[in-house]
Amino acid sequence: MESLKAFKNRKGPKAVINFIILYFNNCCIHGFRYLTRAMLIFFEKFLWFTLLVVSIYFCIVVCLSSIDRYYTKSTHIGLERNYIFWNTSLPSVTVCPMDRLNITFFSDYCRKNGVKGPQKDVLWDFLENLANSTYINFQNIPESEQVDQVIKDIGLKPEKYMELIFNLTYDKTYEPNIMERIRCVDGSTYIHVRQVLTEWGLCYLGNSMLTEQYSSQYFIYGEYPEPNRYEQELSLIQCQVGSFFQRDTQFTLRGFSSPAIIAFAHSAFEVSKVDSNSNYAVEGVMYDLSTEEIVAEDNLEDETTVSMRKCRFYHESNLTHFPFYTRNICQQECRINLAYRICKCIPHFYPNRIANPKKVCDYKTLRSCFPRHSKFFLKLYEENGKHEKPASCYCEQNCLDAVVTIKSIDPMANAKHLLQGIGSQVTVKTWPQTRLKRQVIFSMTDLLVSIGGTAGLFLGFSVLGLVEVLYFFTIRLVWQILGYTI
Ligand SMILES: *[C@@H]1O[C@H](CO)[C@@H](O)[C@H](O)[C@H]1NC(C)=O
Ligand SMILES: *[C@@H]1O[C@H](CO)[C@@H](O)[C@H](O)[C@H]1NC(C)=O
Ligand SMILES: *[C@@H]1O[C@H](CO)[C@@H](O)[C@H](O)[C@H]1NC(C)=O
Ligand SMILES: *[C@@H]1O[C@H](CO)[C@@H](O)[C@H](O)[C@H]1NC(C)=O
Ligand SMILES: *[C@@H]1O[C@H](CO)[C@@H](O)[C@H](O)[C@H]1NC(C)=O
Repeated sequence: MESLKAFKNRKGPKAVINFIILYFNNCCIHGFRYLTRAMLIFFEKFLWFTLLVVSIYFCIVVCLSSIDRYYTKSTHIGLERNYIFWNTSLPSVTVCPMDRLNITFFSDYCRKNGVKGPQKDVLWDFLENLANSTYINFQNIPESEQVDQVIKDIGLKPEKYMELIFNLTYDKTYEPNIMERIRCVDGSTYIHVRQVLTEWGLCYLGNSMLTEQYSSQYFIYGEYPEPNRYEQELSLIQCQVGSFFQRDTQFTLRGFSSPAIIAFAHSAFEVSKVDSNSNYAVEGVMYDLSTEEIVAEDNLEDETTVSMRKCRFYHESNLTHFPFYTRNICQQECRINLAYRICKCIPHFYPNRIANPKKVCDYKTLRSCFPRHSKFFLKLYEENGKHEKPASCYCEQNCLDAVVTIKSIDPMANAKHLLQGIGSQVTVKTWPQTRLKRQVIFSMTDLLVSIGGTAGLFLGFSVLGLVEVLYFFTIRLVWQILGYTI
């Protein structure tokens, strides 16, 4: 401290200037030294000064554009053609039976809660329609004084609608008799089926790559469904894959005893979408599909952030109501937020296990508010603009996905007799010869090389040069202050 004071007092600003001149004379950036040479005339100094400023300016501009490239254009989607090596997952199918509740469970429930006589029919009709309701048919839920009375008698709150429907629904994937069970089969291979909670109530999903977090049990109670021991006795796979050397590959999801079903075919990495591609069938549906996968390079996840790659992996959820991410799930959350904004409550078929649960709509609000806006809720935008655009809703793509194209849809003739219950069949006859691959084309290393190269090109600057700057203004400065000269 003493000597620092002395140094400052003794020489003041002049010493500082001398030190900077010393740096200019020694530093690695070409050009600086000419500014301090005594021999040069003013014009020469001015020329060197201008050149220096221009070089630094362009160096900064080019570096900024490299950084911008790193953050916004560092990945691209390429095309792969070496198709003989790929395994392609078959599309999933989601099937919703059109009759919902189990009469045995319902009678038990009525007995326990003292619901008798005509009240029982009223309650059945109400719950069955509630369980079968979605954005297109909320107006079908019966409304009457008897309904109000029986709901009051059993103390049914809107928050418990879904739980009660779940309790009264028989999950037929746990049926002991294999001929009655809802199952997904291809010859002797069994594919895992689960009950899921969709925007169309409780449905069944087969051949999916999604984890068990996507299941009705997890959405309603927050716990994984118990392992299905009937399924595990069989040779079971999660999702069927095919490769180029296989011929047609197919599976059927069957065992539905309801008079009609609604089926959705979709990518194995996605959930069904309520607003499109549903097929109402009384005999069963046969899909002929083709699929093209979108895959990702191994380093994509580690080397880029979500905003850089503009896609999300399944486990990178930033959603509030759902623990995982897919694009359609994100759109469901958009619908939740929209419904909450417009009707001030959300329908019962959404998971609501969050810190501040949103209010669940009672059936009267479902009838009165939702049908008026159903188009808007389903599409999330409206052409002739009665509502403002839901600008706050943007959903990233899935990083891993498949594009499923429907080549034909046919009814299954005589399925009821042949398959002991109706269902849905998926066939893939041709395998893709191209697939898309998300790749990193400008990584962190490339960014460093690019910035280093730019600094080298414009200023002759390098890593050792940077070290020199640090050295000059730390250790060397201390020496100088202490009075040593090097
Ligand atoms: C494709 O699937 C087969 C069997 O399902 C497996 O043996 C093979 O390793 C898989 N190939 C690749 C590239 O994943
Ligand atoms: C369930 O809703 C669908 C679509 O509105 C309808 O076609 C079907 O008949 C309903 N099922 C019952 C049991 O009401
Ligand atoms: C209702 O559930 C029972 C199992 O508790 C089952 O045996 C019966 O077949 C189910 N009824 C219908 C119509 O699915
Ligand atoms: C549903 O069943 C569970 C377990 O059996 C029970 O704890 C819960 O109270 C039931 N919910 C309703 C709404 O009846
Ligand atoms: C999730 O991230 C996207 C951008 O990637 C953003 O637009 C959206 O608001 C986020 N959602 C939530 C609930 O934070």
